[in-house]
Amino acid sequence: MPLYHLKINGQSRSVDVAADTPLLWVLRDTLNLLGTKYGCGMGLCGACTVHLNGAPVRSCQLPVSAIGNTPVTTIEGLDPAGAHPLQKAWCDHDVPQCGYCQSGQIMSAAALLKQTPAPTDPEIDAAMAGNLCRCGTYVRIRAAIKDAALMAAKGGVS
Ligand code: FES
Ligand code: FES
Repeated sequence: MPLYHLKINGQSRSVDVAADTPLLWVLRDTLNLLGTKYGCGMGLCGACTVHLNGAPVRSCQLPVSAIGNTPVTTIEGLDPAGAHPLQKAWCDHDVPQCGYCQSGQIMSAAALLKQTPAPTDPEIDAAMAGNLCRCGTYVRIRAAIKDAALMAAKGGVS
């Protein structure tokens, strides 16, 4: 199988996998980065969201052969200490219920705040529309994103 040299969370990682292997399975099965979740496998739920050069992507739909040198960030790499304003706000607001969708939610929210540091409700709804939560934590997610935006305005988003 071909060898791919990836940049994951600031580190160089080499993986020997088939060209059509989705990034999701490279992360979970090859690199043991289990924070990124498998939900639908069809690009519909957002549970597998990671950043590709800072933009949110569905890792279940992205073949490893399409990544090249583009940096990938997973929930494990969002903040080395787990202290991103969103992670703090998620704790403050007790956002997760079962928790399964939440790493994808946070990665989508992080990409939103990078682009739009003080998002309105419609901007939050538009950015988060593709991230489904079967537990219905949407109200707390929105509140936490607003709180994180305020925190970041005081201290800066990492
Ligand atoms: S698992 Fe990728 S979008 Fe659902
Ligand atoms: S917290 Fe359970 S699916 Fe979102």
